[in-house]
Amino acid sequence: MHPTTTNEPPQTLLDLITDVLSLLLLSTITVQSFIGRWQVLRTKLTSLQSSLSSLSESPLWSQNPLLHTLLPSLLSTLQRLLALSRQCSSTSSLPGGKLLFQSDLDIASSSLSNHLHDLDLLLRSGVLHHSNAIILSHPGPGSDKEDLVFFIHDLFTRLQVGGVEFKRKALESLLQILNTDKKSASLVVKEGNIGYLTGLLDFNDQPLIREQAVSAVSILAASNDESRKIIFEEGGLGHLLRILETGSMPLKEKAAIAIEAITGDPDNGWAISAYGGVSVLIEACRCGSQATQTHAVGAIRNVAGVEDIKMALAEEGVVPVIIHLIVSGSSAAQEKAANTIAILASSGGYFRDLIIQEKGLQRLMHLIQDLSSSDTIEHVLRAISSLSVSDSTAQVLSSSTALIIHLGEFIKHGNMTLQKISASLLANLSISDRNKRAIASCMGSLVKLMESPKPVGLQEAGALALVSLLTARWNKKELVRDEKSLMKVVQMLDPKYELIDKKFPVMLVNALLSGRSSGCRKRLLDAGACQHLQKLAEMEVSGAKKALQRLSGISLKSMFSRTWRE
Ligand SMILES: *[C@@H]1O[C@H](CO)[C@@H](O)[C@H](O)[C@H]1NC(C)=O
Ligand SMILES: *[C@@H]1O[C@H](CO)[C@@H](O)[C@H](O)[C@H]1NC(C)=O
Repeated sequence: MHPTTTNEPPQTLLDLITDVLSLLLLSTITVQSFIGRWQVLRTKLTSLQSSLSSLSESPLWSQNPLLHTLLPSLLSTLQRLLALSRQCSSTSSLPGGKLLFQSDLDIASSSLSNHLHDLDLLLRSGVLHHSNAIILSHPGPGSDKEDLVFFIHDLFTRLQVGGVEFKRKALESLLQILNTDKKSASLVVKEGNIGYLTGLLDFNDQPLIREQAVSAVSILAASNDESRKIIFEEGGLGHLLRILETGSMPLKEKAAIAIEAITGDPDNGWAISAYGGVSVLIEACRCGSQATQTHAVGAIRNVAGVEDIKMALAEEGVVPVIIHLIVSGSSAAQEKAANTIAILASSGGYFRDLIIQEKGLQRLMHLIQDLSSSDTIEHVLRAISSLSVSDSTAQVLSSSTALIIHLGEFIKHGNMTLQKISASLLANLSISDRNKRAIASCMGSLVKLMESPKPVGLQEAGALALVSLLTARWNKKELVRDEKSLMKVVQMLDPKYELIDKKFPVMLVNALLSGRSSGCRKRLLDAGACQHLQKLAEMEVSGAKKALQRLSGISLKSMFSRTWRE
C-alpha cells in the first residue's frame, strides 16, 4: 500500500485515485464472496468515477483547500477497499474470519459514502468554479450580491465537508457577516444550509463549534420567519432548551433569544411542552441573567395562550415567578410579564385566584404608578380588568383613588386603545362621588371619544364612563359649563349626525337630567337639544322619550304646542 500524504499536489492525488479506482472496479467483478455487497459498492464506485471526472473538469478545483484533506482520505479508503476486494478474490478463507471482515467492509464502505457525499456537495455548491481569493477577504457591506452568495456557498461547503478547523473558521465567517450586515440573514437562509447548522447545536464533543452554532442560530432565528421555521423543523428547539437549561450564561442568553423567536410562531407553541420546556423556561425566568429572563418570559408569553401549556405553566409555579418579574425585571421583561399575566387572568377563575393569592393585583396596581411604556400599561389594565370580575377585587379597585386618578389620566393622554380600556374599567367600578369629582377633567376627552366610531366599543365605553361620572352632581354642572363638550353632545343628538348610535348621547342627556339638575336643563334647551330629541323620540330611539320628558318637564305640553305653531 502506498503511504498517503496530504502534501502531494492535488493533481498527483487525483491521478493516484483514478488508478486505484480502476483496479478496484475490475476487482469487484471477480470477487468470490460477499458478491451482493460488492455489487452495491460497485454502484457507488461508478458514481464516484463520474464525480471525479466532473471535479477535474471544474476549472479551479485544485485550488480548493477542502480537497487537501478530502482527496487523501478518499485515496486511503479506496486502497483499503482494494485490499479487501483482493481477500474476496482468492478462494482461501478470510484471514480474520467472516465477522471481522464484514465489519471492516462496513467501515470502509461507509467512509466511501461520506466522501462521495462531500464530493457531490462540493461540486453542487459551485465553489469550484470561482477563484478562492475572495475567501481571504470577507465581502464588505457594500459588496455585490453575487460575491456574497458565493461567499455563503463556500462557507457552508467548508462547514459541511471540512474538519473541525474548517468548521470553526466557517462559523467565524458566518457570524461576522451576520453581525456586520443585517440584511445578510435572509441571503444566508436562502443560500446556506440552516438544517445542517441546526444539527451543530448537538455537536457536543466540540464545545467551541457548538457555541458558535448557537450564536448563529440565535441571530438567524430572530431575524426572519423562514430560518425560524427551518430551525424548528430540524429539531432545534429541543437542543436550544437543553442549552438554556445547562449552558454557560452567554449561551443561555442566546438560546433564550432563539426560543422566544421560535415560539413567536403560534404553530410551534405546543412543542415547548413536548420538549419538556415548561420548567426550563420558568427556571430561566427565576434565575437567569436579566437578558435571559427577558427572553424566557417572552417565550412564556408566546405560549401562555396554548391550552395545555397554560395549565402546565400554572402547575409548575409560573405565577409567582412572573409576578416577581413585574416588580424586578427590566422594562422589557416587565412588559412581557404583564402581558403573560393578562393572558392568564383572562383564562378563568383558577388562574385569577392564583394571581390574587400571589399578590398580583397589588403588584399590577403598583406598576401603573411608575410607568413607562404604553404597551405595559395596556397589559396591566387588561389584567386588572380580568381580575375585576371578582367582587372583592372590584371593591379594592373601586376604592383606590390612585388607580382612579390614573385611569382619568390615561383617558386624557393615552392612545385610543388605552382610552378605551380605561373608560370601560371606569364605567365598571363603583367609585365614590369624591373620586368622580377628582377626575372631572377627563369628561371632555370622554365626549371626544364618543365621536370616534372606531375601534368598535369605544363610543359605548365613553358613554358608560360618562354616565357613571355624571351621577356626581358637581360633574353635571362641570360638563354643561364646558361649551365645547355641550355642543358636541347636542350635535351627536342630531339625527343628521350619523356616526353614532343615538342611544349613547340620549343616555348622556338622561344622566345630566336625573336628580336635581335645573342648571343642566336650561343649558341643554338653550343649546337646541329639544328639537333633536323630539325627532329621536319619533324614531323611537331607546330612552329618547324619557329624555324629552325630563328636558321639557312640566312644559311638555306647551313645547309641543310651540312646535305646532312653528
Ligand atoms: C396604542 O399603543 C399601544 C402600545 O404602544 C399599541 O400597541 C396600540 O396599537 C396603540 N393603539 C392605537 C389605536 O394607536
Ligand atoms: C366591563 O364590564 C363588561 C360587562 O360585564 C365587560 O364586558 C367588560 O369587559 C368590562 N370592562 C372592563 C375593562 O373590565
